[in-house]
Amino acid sequence: MIDLQQKIQEACEAISREWDRRPTVGLVLGTGLGGLAEQIDTVAAIPYEEIPHFPESTAPSHAGRLVCGELNGVPLVAMEGRFHFYEGYTLADVTFPVRVMRSLGAETLLLTNAAGGLDPEYRLADVVAIEDHINLLGDNPLRGPNDDSLGPRFPDMCDPYDPALIAVARECAEELGLSLSSGVFVAVAGPNLETRAEYRMLRRLGGDLVGMSTVPECLVARHMGMRVLGFSIVTDMGLPDELEPVDIEMVLEVAGRGGQTLAELIPRIIARLG
Ligand code: HPA
Repeated sequence: MIDLQQKIQEACEAISREWDRRPTVGLVLGTGLGGLAEQIDTVAAIPYEEIPHFPESTAPSHAGRLVCGELNGVPLVAMEGRFHFYEGYTLADVTFPVRVMRSLGAETLLLTNAAGGLDPEYRLADVVAIEDHINLLGDNPLRGPNDDSLGPRFPDMCDPYDPALIAVARECAEELGLSLSSGVFVAVAGPNLETRAEYRMLRRLGGDLVGMSTVPECLVARHMGMRVLGFSIVTDMGLPDELEPVDIEMVLEVAGRGGQTLAELIPRIIARLG
């Protein structure tokens, strides 16, 4: 079996052949964030299947790309499309690209997703800064032998989402006249949406948002010492007493609206990281 370090190195070498800069930031673009990718001064957009050891796509229509270039003059790598646990990948597979981004040099990871709103104060298409998380995936990407040269066996989770970066995000939102709330994100395995009883439980457990991604990537980024900033777009409301069937077309439309807000906010934040 090839060890993890060697796999990471082989992936990095393939990317460096197309783009030989050192990224400052790694960006994971979730549902509805396509507009942001267009703002990147792209030097290389590498299909995932061309990067050694990236998971093989199960759905051809979902094939993603690693976009390498600059945003506001800051060198970055952006994942256009991510891997989800519900697709059948292991969490080690799901998070392999984060390890690669870190090894290319990225010190900060910016995560975005579409999520259900558990806090009744939220409105559809709100952008929410993730201040903490609860892992209900029933699995962990750090499970198994630990490579001490990549990170510690028992990584600390006092501040999984960097408070200083959240403060920067707040300042940038204020400058742009955008409203930015914050909340606790709960990760579930999916792929089904929650039952009324589950939404009620998640709220009582302390969740403000629920989604099927982000937490594995955050855990691996923290394992490797990256600073993490995460945003959710509220695409549907998980209010048990007012629950309506979720229409995926509607979710995508709302994600696109929230995505426009993030497409203003994220470049400004990234400019501050350069
Ligand atoms: N639940 C879980 N994941 C989600 C939801 C939801 O309501 N909305 C978007 N992703």
